[in-house]
Amino acid sequence: MPNDVGATQAFYGRWARAYDWLATAPGVESWREQAADALDLEAGDTVVEMGCGTGANFSNLRERVGAEGRIVGVDLTRGMLRRAGERIDRAGWENVHLARADARRPPVEGPVDAVLATFVVGMFADPRPAVERWIDTLAPGGRIALLNAGRSRRRVAAPFNLGFRAFVRLAAPGDGRISPTASLEQRVTTARDAVYSNCPEHGFEEFGLGYLGLAWGERPE
Ligand SMILES: C[S@@+](CC[C@H](N)C(=O)[O-])C[C@H]1O[C@@H](n2cnc3c(N)ncnc32)[C@H](O)[C@@H]1O
Repeated sequence: MPNDVGATQAFYGRWARAYDWLATAPGVESWREQAADALDLEAGDTVVEMGCGTGANFSNLRERVGAEGRIVGVDLTRGMLRRAGERIDRAGWENVHLARADARRPPVEGPVDAVLATFVVGMFADPRPAVERWIDTLAPGGRIALLNAGRSRRRVAAPFNLGFRAFVRLAAPGDGRISPTASLEQRVTTARDAVYSNCPEHGFEEFGLGYLGLAWGERPE
């Protein structure tokens, strides 16, 4: 399914409600906070979230940029954006906007202060050009953060790896040449390398029993 826009829309369109439940489950929130922290946002900043889905990151972003900042969520699945829109309406955020578009070529004119993508780059067959384009939209000193899941190598996580593999097979089956999880990991590594090679100042942390990896980079001044 990587890069297959029709399949992505069909899958996430069908599962938007269940996905939103999973995306906001207890425990997930702390990962989202760490991703938002990595952006080093200030009040008044503009942040673009690529593949924003149902908007599960919006409250963390809104807390940091405040009422005078701006958040733009880009996604191509109508059902996911509908839920994101409902979230925005419920909260009464007037500075959170949505765009239905392909995040690999987002309709965003920089410079912006930050770009966030959580659980998204693993869906692109080749994430490098997209990530480089995102970094190009950043103002000097602006930050990008990519949060992604992968198999955990920790012994304590072994019983959960089976469930993780099954989820990846459903959500990101890959192209059949290698296992879906290996293929996902290759794409996530490519995205992280794109951040590292374009942002001399960068970092990486692992959490969630080793299932989650957060890579960030800062565009040079
Ligand atoms: C796993 S969900 C992650 C949603 C959200 N970032 C989160 O953390 O909950 C992946 C999202 O990426 C979107 N997506 C996948 N490929 C995309 C593309 N090329 N352009 C825009 N959105 C895309 C899907 O529609 C879906 O909403």
